[in-house]
Amino acid sequence: MCGIYACIGDIAANDKVLSGLKRIEYRGYDSWGIASCDQEIAIEKHVGKISLVKELQLIPRTIAIGHTRWATHGGVTQANAHPHLASNGAFALVQNGVLENYQELKKTATKNGYQFKTQTDTEVIVALLEQENAQAIKLKSFASTMQQMVGRNTILLLEKSGGIWAYRQGSPLIIGKNQRGTFFFSSDLASLSHDADMYYVLENQEIAHLEGKKLTIYQIENLSVKTTLFQKLDQEALAVDKGNFPHFMLKEIYEQTESLIKVLSESHNLFKKIAKKIDLASNIYLVGAGSASYAALHTTIELRKYKQHVFHVPAYDYADFENNWNKQDLAIVLSQSGETADTIEAVEKMQAKGVFIVSVVNMPSSTLMKNADLTYPLNVGAEIGVASTKALTAHILFGMALSDYLLHRNFKFQASVAAFCDQLKKWLSNPQVMKQIRQTAQTLSTKKDLYILGRGSNFPSALEFALKIKEVSYIHAEGFSAGELKHGVIALIEKNTPVICLVDEQNRQDMLSSAHEVKARGAQVVGIATDSEEVFDIHIKLPSKDFSNLGSIIIAQLLTYEIALLKNLDPDKPRNLAKSVTVK
Ligand code: F6R
Repeated sequence: MCGIYACIGDIAANDKVLSGLKRIEYRGYDSWGIASCDQEIAIEKHVGKISLVKELQLIPRTIAIGHTRWATHGGVTQANAHPHLASNGAFALVQNGVLENYQELKKTATKNGYQFKTQTDTEVIVALLEQENAQAIKLKSFASTMQQMVGRNTILLLEKSGGIWAYRQGSPLIIGKNQRGTFFFSSDLASLSHDADMYYVLENQEIAHLEGKKLTIYQIENLSVKTTLFQKLDQEALAVDKGNFPHFMLKEIYEQTESLIKVLSESHNLFKKIAKKIDLASNIYLVGAGSASYAALHTTIELRKYKQHVFHVPAYDYADFENNWNKQDLAIVLSQSGETADTIEAVEKMQAKGVFIVSVVNMPSSTLMKNADLTYPLNVGAEIGVASTKALTAHILFGMALSDYLLHRNFKFQASVAAFCDQLKKWLSNPQVMKQIRQTAQTLSTKKDLYILGRGSNFPSALEFALKIKEVSYIHAEGFSAGELKHGVIALIEKNTPVICLVDEQNRQDMLSSAHEVKARGAQVVGIATDSEEVFDIHIKLPSKDFSNLGSIIIAQLLTYEIALLKNLDPDKPRNLAKSVTVK
């Protein structure tokens, strides 16, 4: 949520920041801005997506900082867009996070005579810094201002003298460097791969100060200087582009034919370690937010085949479980970004109680990867489409493979995954299937509501199916366990209500009964199944009879992508969303 990008030491700093911000636009896209400096600070701010900026003449400058915003406090206006300039023009500042005590601090600043020009919490930080640092920023007062801030806040500040100050508490900030000595700051590692060869991930509660080419990192606690070790950046592995696809979402959907194999590349070594911990643990908690929470629910169902005390914890509802945690417990935490604030908070609370944390994370060097006791890297490559696709299916597959390993203590499962991926490849290149998906998308695109029914492992798939439809094609969709139907949900069914039934081999009979029950009340039944059935009005063939839970989700991804196109929506950047939800 919100992205920060900066370049210091390149004659085209402004342009570098402009293109850097485009690479991290998925973090927020309601407005953007760049501050650059050459004795005076100049600011360029706009409402709208930075990706739509085609031609913009920016003055060549050697130092620039930028921001792409996902609004929290204050509407989407040019004034509320970052960077925010100090009233005396001495510095400009960008923030990623939420200043939770902004009201209290704002009152004090107003009493002290500061006149606010925006509704943002960010301007409160500007006011505090300005009151303490009349002309230039001083380390001590910078640190004491940062310590007054409550919440997860990461900021970057440009002084008109050219100095850069950064502070990380929560949201990520990575410092990059190239061989010419140019420095970059970014909210994510992948975006740096275009510009930098080396990187350092700023830790929580660290201050970075860059003066000319001299970078100093301080620990805020005692202002001691930390020796930083820059690591080599694997540019190839992190490269981000759409290839021949019109959207990242479509590219990432197709990449699942390979990502589902890649996710198991570390399993031989890591499953043994995780299994040992599972065997010793009293309770196992599966944690995640949004789609990752549905993957956690799926994994909970899978691991219950092996162990009794396995619980699903939606990260935002961790408080319901907090009293039960103790040091005999184990948590498996799922996150694509490794930076989701709700998930990080749940993990911090669990760690305080001594719970052993296994994180299953895609983004290298992310907070959840670094803070866990053991990490399982998903290894599926950068996921840029805001709605999760390949990371979600990878998380589900991780759970299925782990469960299979626990039950059989071998790795034969991988062969069935490889076979599924082969079938998926063929299915994706079958023009008949793709035509059926496009036609179904056409039918569904005019509907206001639709319902998805599944059972067993297709219940979390039904929830995920509905979420994809809601967020990418803006159609109200609800996923239910088919068992719920007669207990209330059926009241919603009337003539032509679309009901999507996820039919797997194991629950075929029950699912078909539910399909008949809704059809008898006028529903238009879309069957997602291996074979066509008489009760279906529309049939979409699954890629394979195995892994129908994954097949259903891949169909949901394609359907919602096609509906978005029909409705002229941007499937990569759904409204009001951002990829990495770094605020609570
Ligand atoms: C939905 C989606 C979100 C994320 C959720 C958690 O398509 O992408 O629901 O799954 O915000 O994000 P991560 O996995 O980064 O923790």
